[in-house]
Amino acid sequence: MKMHKLEEIWLIFGIGVLAVALIVTGYQVYALGMGPPSHKETVDHTLWEDGGEGPAPFNEPGVYEVGDNEYEVIMTLEAFSFNPSEITVPVGAEVTFIMTSKDVVHGITVPHTNLNTMVLPGHIQTITQTFNEADEYLMVCNEYCGVGHHMMTANIIVEE
Ligand code: CUA
Repeated sequence: MKMHKLEEIWLIFGIGVLAVALIVTGYQVYALGMGPPSHKETVDHTLWEDGGEGPAPFNEPGVYEVGDNEYEVIMTLEAFSFNPSEITVPVGAEVTFIMTSKDVVHGITVPHTNLNTMVLPGHIQTITQTFNEADEYLMVCNEYCGVGHHMMTANIIVEE
């Protein structure tokens, strides 16, 4: 059986594009370590049941200075709020958000940054961002989590 010339060219082109995409993706994930966050760290979210204070470190949510212009934000998400809901850091700060959900699946997005991830109950999600411009950033929930989903926001204030 003879294949049409153009069909052959397209077939080779298609396989070529697939091969290049897999090589580029593989290089980014394995050589550069740019894969999606997949820290399989878990946390016992049942400790919040019956008014419990929750598992450490999430029993003390807040903004903590951990180094030279390095901050950690211990954050809990629940329908329909972030805790803390106002985060103030100096310009140039490297901020690591350590998050978990107290109830259902939530997510975070901060426009104009790389902050964009899901936050699941029972799992710890960690994501780091350096804020190089003094500004106010709005963090929104990006997973539909109920009637108040659209009101679930937090502010990040980056000061000079
Ligand atoms: Cu939380 Cu939508």
